[in-house]
Amino acid sequence: MTGPEPSGEKSRLAALASRLPEGRGGFLRWPEEVGSTNTVMKEWAGQGAPAGSVILAERQTGGRGRLGRSFVSPPGGLYLSYLMRPRLSPEGVGGLTAWTAVAVRRALGRCCGFLPEIKWVNDLEWQGRKLCGILCESLLRGGALESVVLGIGINVDTSPEEFPPELRRRAASLRALGLPVPARGDLAAALVRSLDDLAAEFPLAGDAYREEYRACCVTLGKTVTLPDGTEGFAEGLGEDFSLLLRLPDGSLRKLRSGEATLHRE
Ligand code: BTN
Repeated sequence: MTGPEPSGEKSRLAALASRLPEGRGGFLRWPEEVGSTNTVMKEWAGQGAPAGSVILAERQTGGRGRLGRSFVSPPGGLYLSYLMRPRLSPEGVGGLTAWTAVAVRRALGRCCGFLPEIKWVNDLEWQGRKLCGILCESLLRGGALESVVLGIGINVDTSPEEFPPELRRRAASLRALGLPVPARGDLAAALVRSLDDLAAEFPLAGDAYREEYRACCVTLGKTVTLPDGTEGFAEGLGEDFSLLLRLPDGSLRKLRSGEATLHRE
């Protein structure tokens, strides 16, 4: 499962491990290229990898996004998957994507000195451009929750031409937006530390995560359109981070997942 490490990977791992608490545990890998770090982590999870295991990659050839989409993952981005083993029912981990967005935002704040906005439910943005996407995947066995993989892709130092033309107006990297570009080991360590905190605090610290999410969520207080064309006013955030939408007929719709396009887009 952990195998021998090529020399490039050795130095990346050394840079990361030296910034993490000694004896932290969990498997740690950082190869040059994988299909999808989430797919690798799901395989590890099935083989019994411990909670807190992490895989990073310099690029992905089959990066996966939410709603069955692909996630373009060229060099310059940081691609990370983290394994959690919460002792909860599958329904109990509903808000984890939003929790992860808060954790990544905190890591960027600590490591790079800026705090991005969150577009419900899982996009981290700066000046309306997507810097980071999050894909959380639950693994079930016999209906019970076995583990959850938190997958994070950050556009750190990606040049604009690496994105396909249709994404260039929407996605951007820290470098392209003039934001501080951290050393890769520093950012990786900040993310792992922030996710370790999340794993220790989930689900008890829900109020703090929700409060922070509310304060930086760019979707709240705006009119949005759903994929079926329904328009609504994003009036609030539910206990489980669902989006509370006031529809034109006055009724309230609770959106647990999916997509809500802001009218600015
Ligand atoms: C989205 O914006 O739709 C979510 C994108 C999630 C991408 C990350 S990159 C690391 C991990 N591995 C994957 O294949 N996907 C996630």
